[in-house]
This record gives sequence, structure tokens and C-alpha cells, in this order.
Amino acid sequence: MSPSADRESFQRVLDGFLGRHPHRSGPVAVDAPDPWRARARIGTLELRPLAEGDVAVLADFAARLGADSRTLFCPYPWDDPAALERAFQGAIAQARDHIDAMVVLTDGAATVGHAFLWKAGGNPYSAADGLEIPELGVAVADAWQGRGLGGLLVRWLQAVAAGLGRDAVELTTAPANDRGWSTYRSAGFEHLGDIRTPLGVDVTAATLGQAVATAWRVERQMAWVVRADQRERILAHLARKRAEAGTATP
Ligand SMILES: CC(C)(COP(=O)(O)OP(=O)(O)OC[C@H]1O[C@@H](n2cnc3c(N)ncnc32)[C@H](O)[C@@H]1OP(=O)(O)O)[C@@H](O)C(=O)NCCC(=O)NCCS
Repeated sequence: MSPSADRESFQRVLDGFLGRHPHRSGPVAVDAPDPWRARARIGTLELRPLAEGDVAVLADFAARLGADSRTLFCPYPWDDPAALERAFQGAIAQARDHIDAMVVLTDGAATVGHAFLWKAGGNPYSAADGLEIPELGVAVADAWQGRGLGGLLVRWLQAVAAGLGRDAVELTTAPANDRGWSTYRSAGFEHLGDIRTPLGVDVTAATLGQAVATAWRVERQMAWVVRADQRERILAHLARKRAEAGTATP
């Protein structure tokens, strides 16, 4: 996609957000030289890629997630401070190396949202079937939930995936997560089935055997198809993935 097409697609995401939340005010700006570097400002909110030195930004976000949110959003080992800091440093390195697309949303000094596309730079697991399908994760700080920010982050990452030419975006979500379900459904994700999902780790790394999980949960597998001409192959690939992962927790 050309830089101007990238910028337009991110601008459309912001326009949609402001249309759904017209009370939001303040200057709006988008800068998107390419999908990896896309960033935006909406009044006091800033949405930007995760950058070097952002361990404290992620730690601030973690401190704003209560127990229920941490149970639903668990890409990091929340209960082990040393491992958590290493995981944050790993996430920053993966973002720097364009392996994962990672964004943070700040409101003034507070980190109020974090979202990512694991393996946006290339997913060896789906590539074995000739497809590029990154996996999405998202969370909003407790006190900022229910104001449209989760929907904004998901749509932003959909624009990143489309801009990078990916075939689809996959995610998993706990069956009891009603707010997550509404967020994903209204952003165009479809429910495909149940899948055993590792907790506390990068799920794509665990799927590739590069990370070891010690806990699992059966979640809903959902997908958003970017390339409609590849739909059948995408659904067949994700069905194979469900069959391989299984639905029984050890
Ligand atoms: C899930 C989460 C990211 C959604 O972000 P959010 O900013 O709270 O949600 P939004 O305000 O953008 O609302 C998204 C949708 O959920 C709906 N919603 C809001 N509160 C809801 C509730 N209590 N129950 C069901 N749906 C709800 C909204 O109406 C909206 O639907 P719409 O787009 O059709 O209008 C956020 O709540 C969160 O971080 N939760 C804890 C961690 C988590 O669950 N992460 C996802 C793991 S898969």
C-alpha cells in the first residue's frame, strides 16, 4: 500500500471512532509513513507503536489492569515480576524488529491501552499453509473501559494488518468475555469454533514450540478475513489449527 493509502485507512479508523464517540474533542492528527510507524493523536489520547525504553509504559499499563482484566488478557506472566520485565523487554524487541506490531494508547501520562498483532512481520505457522495470519491481543485499562477505546485499538490493528497485506487476523477470547465478544463482533470478526489456548505467553511462539506454557484455557477462536479471495483456504487453515491444538486442557 502506498503511504497516502496507509494514511487514509488510519484516518478512516479515527473518523469512525469520532463518529461513534462525538463527545471526544481536541485536535486530531494521523502520521502513517507505513503501517509499522502509524501513530495518531486525538485530543489527550496518543496511539503509537511501542518503542525502545517503553518498559515503564507497559508497567504503568499493567498497574491499571485489575485482576479480572489480567485473567482475560494474559499474554504476559503477570504474577512473576522478573519474568514480566523480561517479557516486556522481549515485546519491545519484537516490535523493533518488525516481528510483532505492538501499539500503546496513552491519555496524558497514563498508559490506557495496549494491543498487538503477534507475527505481523511473518507467521511461520500460517506461512506453512501459504497464508499470513497474525494474532491479535488487546486490553484497555480498567478505568478507561467502555469508552470505545478497545474498538479503536482493534480497528487500528485491522488497518495495520490490511496495510501490511496480511490475509486475515486471528484472535482467541474467553467464552465469558462479553465485552471482548461485542468488541470483536462489531469490528467484523467471526466466531469459528473453540481452541485450546496457552496462557501467560506469546501464543504464536507457543504454537511454534518456541515458548512453553504451563496453563491453558479453552477459548473462542475468531477471525477477520482481509483477503476475501482466500477465504476458503483461511478457514481451512484455522480449522486445522483448532484440530491440532485440541479443546481439552491438560
Ligand atoms: C475487551 C476490551 C478490550 C474492550 O475495550 P473497551 O474499550 O472496554 O470496549 P469499547 O468501549 O470499545 O466497546 C466495545 C464494544 O463492547 C460493548 N460493550 C461495552 N460494555 C459491555 C459489556 N459490559 N458487556 C457487553 N458488551 C459491552 C460496546 O457496546 C461495544 O460494542 P459496539 O462496538 O457494538 O458498540 C476491554 O474491555 C478490556 O480490556 N477488557 C479486559 C481485558 C480483555 O478482556 N481483553 C481482551 C481479551 S480477548
